[in-house]
Amino acid sequence: MCGIIGIVGTSSVQDRLIESLKRLEYRGYDSAGIAGFGPDGIERRRAAGKLRNLEEVLAGDPLTASVGIGHTRWATHGPPTVGNAHPHQAGRVTLVHNGIIENFAELKAELKAEGRVFSTDTDTEVVAQLLDRELASKAPLEAFKATLDQVRGAFALVVMIEGETNLLLGAREGPPLIVGYGDGEMFLGSDALAVGPFTNRVAYLEDGDYVAIDHNGARVFEKSGRPVDRPVQVVPQSPALMEKGNYRHFMEKEIHDQPEGCQRTIAAYVDALGGLTAVPGGVDFAALNRIQIVGCGTAYLAGLIGKYLIEPLADLPVDVEVASEFRYRQPALRPDCLVVAISQSGETADTLAALRYCQARGMKSAAVVNAVGSTMAREVDVVWPIHCGPEIGVASTKAFTAQVSVLTAIAVAAARARGRIDEAEERRLVAVLMEAPRLIAESINLEEAVKSIALEVSRARDVLFLGRGPMYPLALEGALKLKEISYIHAEGYAAGELKHGPIALVDEHTPIVILAPFDSYFEKSASNMSEVMARGGQVVFITDPEGERHAPAGARVVVTAPRCDPLIAPLVMAAPIQLLAYYVAVQKGADVDQPRNLAKSVTVE
Ligand code: M6R
Repeated sequence: MCGIIGIVGTSSVQDRLIESLKRLEYRGYDSAGIAGFGPDGIERRRAAGKLRNLEEVLAGDPLTASVGIGHTRWATHGPPTVGNAHPHQAGRVTLVHNGIIENFAELKAELKAEGRVFSTDTDTEVVAQLLDRELASKAPLEAFKATLDQVRGAFALVVMIEGETNLLLGAREGPPLIVGYGDGEMFLGSDALAVGPFTNRVAYLEDGDYVAIDHNGARVFEKSGRPVDRPVQVVPQSPALMEKGNYRHFMEKEIHDQPEGCQRTIAAYVDALGGLTAVPGGVDFAALNRIQIVGCGTAYLAGLIGKYLIEPLADLPVDVEVASEFRYRQPALRPDCLVVAISQSGETADTLAALRYCQARGMKSAAVVNAVGSTMAREVDVVWPIHCGPEIGVASTKAFTAQVSVLTAIAVAAARARGRIDEAEERRLVAVLMEAPRLIAESINLEEAVKSIALEVSRARDVLFLGRGPMYPLALEGALKLKEISYIHAEGYAAGELKHGPIALVDEHTPIVILAPFDSYFEKSASNMSEVMARGGQVVFITDPEGERHAPAGARVVVTAPRCDPLIAPLVMAAPIQLLAYYVAVQKGADVDQPRNLAKSVTVE
């Protein structure tokens, strides 16, 4: 979603605003703009489309300013035109916004009735108009608070006021906003990555906070107006983490990062020397009656794989639900249930709301997150971090396998804690899990085999993914990956559901990807494969060497992943479906890392 940066600097900020916005590109955007205090007042430059368009504007008309703000816009209200690009202006106010102002229509009507003229289609402009109105009778900070008291919704805001050349104001209600502390310079940003090149000392604003930064530092206030301290933390990050290296896309790099990301993650959840699980956080799995997993998109699907692993091994019921449904359907909850939010960003609005819903009903909470400074990580009882490094590609890959790694370790730990396995079996399963990074690397080596299918799949209008057991959520993930970056319609189904409807779609033009390692489900999946082929369907069969030996003849293509214990099959079988989506998207010339309409971090409902 929209990216925000604000700099109270001691030297020119134009290039630094752009550098920061480039770091925020991963969030997804369709226009961009910056503004700064120029010699004759506030100046702004905006462009539709990618940042290179804004850079072209700046090449012809540079901005001379040492205090300024920048924004990448992911359109919600109004198309992605120059006119709707942030920063927005009204009178003395220039501001940028991430989120949605829910009561903008009534506020706009009120302001229009007072004779105020609007020049954009956005919800954001009402905030600029409101603040400008309040400034007529109030000092900046007081006017800002009065404005915030009138708007409803989800927002992170950064504001400049004409004449206040050493001041930026910020506010957070929902989408995150951080304060960066430099040497004689101060920053506001959507996340720590935004200010990464300038400082690694950041404070996270809480919901309802607002802040004033100037060359002397930051003053933070709670919603009530009471001054408050938000601790400054040192965040580890290096500019090198953001580089693609020799890869063409972040997604390609992140697929290849998986063995290392999973290895680091698994190392944090097992005692490698002792050979047993060592899940941090002290959760007593024996005392739990149920686990409720909530998440969105790929994170939800990782949770679904967790259910397939935890329930049979630990005999512990696990419910998994997309957070956007869960939060509104008044689910029946009990305090002896642990809620586990899964989220790469730790900021997804629906997941956060579902988590808070459970907490409000007395449930203990945990979060499997990548961003350890995120809102979810700060609000839960137990943080279960993944250790795969920042994920930049909008399509989640290495976060997914790292999330599944955590859930696999939890399944084994819970099984032992609940007396369902003995120490010897725990040792065996931990050894299996520690094998996963090597086998994932072998799976990634199937790249050439997968690439050879990409051309044919790229011509398809629809693609079906089928799987049974833990391969079913992986089939859903394969379909999600393919549709989000290649724009080909794809659906995942439990293979057993084939005859209950989807088989009607089978014809010679529809590739059917069947995920079936040689496990207890194999024979049934092979039967489904025969049924598809009998109807002219083009099967892409993703299996292992044993499965290849036992497969019915006639699969269009067989991709043979390494043989592994069923415990880690979801980890080992993930790379082929990720690579398939990747190479199909490349074949189609799609924007792999920033697919159309998508945002990396969805901070509004
Ligand atoms: O940051 P989160 O893990 O909470 O994000 C959840 C989804 O938005 C995310 O997984 C999305 O589905 C990805 N684009 C999938 O590749």
